[in-house]
Amino acid sequence: MIIVKKITDVQQFLAKRNAKQKSTGFVPTMGALHDGHISLIKAAKKETGVVVCSIFVNPTQFNDPKDFEKYPVTIESDIYLLEKAGCDVLFLPAVAEMYPQGLQTSLHFELGFIETILEGEFRPGHFQGVCQVVYRLLEIITPDKLFLGQKDFQQCMVIRKMAATFFPGLDIIICPTQRESSGLAMSSRNKRLSDADKITATAIFETMQYVKNNIQPGDLNLLQQKAVRQLTAKGFRVDYVTIADVFTLRLQESWDGEEQIVVLVAAFLNEVRLIDNLILN
Ligand code: PAF
Repeated sequence: MIIVKKITDVQQFLAKRNAKQKSTGFVPTMGALHDGHISLIKAAKKETGVVVCSIFVNPTQFNDPKDFEKYPVTIESDIYLLEKAGCDVLFLPAVAEMYPQGLQTSLHFELGFIETILEGEFRPGHFQGVCQVVYRLLEIITPDKLFLGQKDFQQCMVIRKMAATFFPGLDIIICPTQRESSGLAMSSRNKRLSDADKITATAIFETMQYVKNNIQPGDLNLLQQKAVRQLTAKGFRVDYVTIADVFTLRLQESWDGEEQIVVLVAAFLNEVRLIDNLILN
């Protein structure tokens, strides 16, 4: 695997790939890699000729400066895992390389309804920051296929929307959430959980399964309230437990038994904010 920090270097390498007509798969990350990320690298490896992974903890997508400061950084183990998985290029830019004109940008992405709800509501500006960095990365890497994890369900929809406007030829592949045997969704933020909190955190998956097992056509409010109570009783501070339409993320107060729906959860365990989702039918 080659490791490059400069845009010109990564572009030079990829120009050679273009000459050999190899397709490029791209996995953007913020590092602190785990098996969820590695499953994306492996999927990219199967489907494309050259696999590029980026590690860049993007300051513009953190609405909470403390969350940014505490974001885990494990670069040596990340490099080891990427090498082992067969990644070809690690792009590891500094902030000044990504944002030479500073963090403020005049670019505004028209995301509409999707950025006003759930993560958009609780983390104002977050999705503008995500689009800013992914747009920049896509411009630099020019991949054929982009690999994202379903754990960030709303982020996948947001990036799809942005890419449809600016990168219409890009193929976006959403890979399933990887879970610990306990059900806990793999996440870089889990590195900030104590061993005891890792056990408590499994309540998120249990609660989503409770919703899946108990959902019935009709009013959904009571079920969503019960799910919030279950998590609160375990010590979580819940931002939301919401059942929504899989395709639009329109929140569902009642269900006709047919519509494809997903339950989405965001909750703090101590200082660590965890998100997860489960498709219900
Ligand atoms: O999901 C992430 O790790 C980040 O939001 C992403 C897509 C790498 C953009 O910084």
